[in-house]
Amino acid sequence: MSSAIPVIAIDGPSASGKGSVAERVADTLGYHYLDSGALYRIVALAAHDKGIEWDDADALGTMVVTLNITFKNGEVLLNGMPVTDAIRSPAMSNGASQVAVHPQVRSALLALQHSFRQSPGLVADGRDMASVVFPDAKLKIFLTANVEERTNRRYKQLLGQGLDAEYEKILSDLKARDERDRSRSSAPLIQTEDAVFLDTDNRNIQEAVAFVLSEYKKVHS
Ligand code: CDP
Repeated sequence: MSSAIPVIAIDGPSASGKGSVAERVADTLGYHYLDSGALYRIVALAAHDKGIEWDDADALGTMVVTLNITFKNGEVLLNGMPVTDAIRSPAMSNGASQVAVHPQVRSALLALQHSFRQSPGLVADGRDMASVVFPDAKLKIFLTANVEERTNRRYKQLLGQGLDAEYEKILSDLKARDERDRSRSSAPLIQTEDAVFLDTDNRNIQEAVAFVLSEYKKVHS
């Protein structure tokens, strides 16, 4: 990993919109983009396909190093097969947060995440981008919104994908996932001391993108 290459780390809870913001910031700057949550979702899907339980930490850790994960033209590929939609299902959202508690899984994904740090820069979103994966990031953003707002966003996203969506179920899933992500001992979701807080309750995506870009201007000339 080359520490000379700038990283913008964007962390936050489920369905906060950090992915959309991160992708647009990357596009605007001509930077690479890492959706680290997709990696945990892929691990959950691959385990499901292979009959490995989401709580079998050792088997999951061994499996992760055998996976060929690539991102190409907006598609996520697992061993050459597109899994972009399959990893976005509510079942894989829950599976991702269950496999993500295991240090064996997290450490097996570290090198792959570091490999995204390429010139001219990287925007990375997830839960531990600032705290663990890119602690030397040039800019760290903690992006959030209240749980009802996040439930609405995920509800609309699922309907837009033609999937079944039930508001109360999404709300309880999000709360459970937030709780698991914040309370786990390995790389929990936290706002690091050096991160800038971005509340998107009353900000749309364009406004959130503009905020991140203006913060980046302050630290990157
Ligand atoms: O899209 P959404 O915010 O709902 O989730 P995601 O970013 O795709 O992440 C799915 C799950 O992966 C999260 O609930 C976390 O448990 C886990 N995750 C993680 O542990 N560390 C990361 N850097 C990114 C995701």
